[in-house]
Amino acid sequence: MYVCLCNAVSDKTIREVVRRYQPKSLQHLRQLVPVGKQCGKCIRAAREIMDEEMQHV
Ligand code: FES
Repeated sequence: MYVCLCNAVSDKTIREVVRRYQPKSLQHLRQLVPVGKQCGKCIRAAREIMDEEMQHV
């Protein structure tokens, strides 16, 4: 499922990046994947997925 339609970033991509790099903040995640760089509507969903995935690492 796409989280960020503007940049075609899927939840799977975010989960993989979080597992691999364990970003400490949303800003850090955004340096790793291009979420929220345009309309910004995906930011909240991206944060939720990141938080959820961080509980498993
Ligand atoms: Fe992610 Fe627009 S949906 S920037």
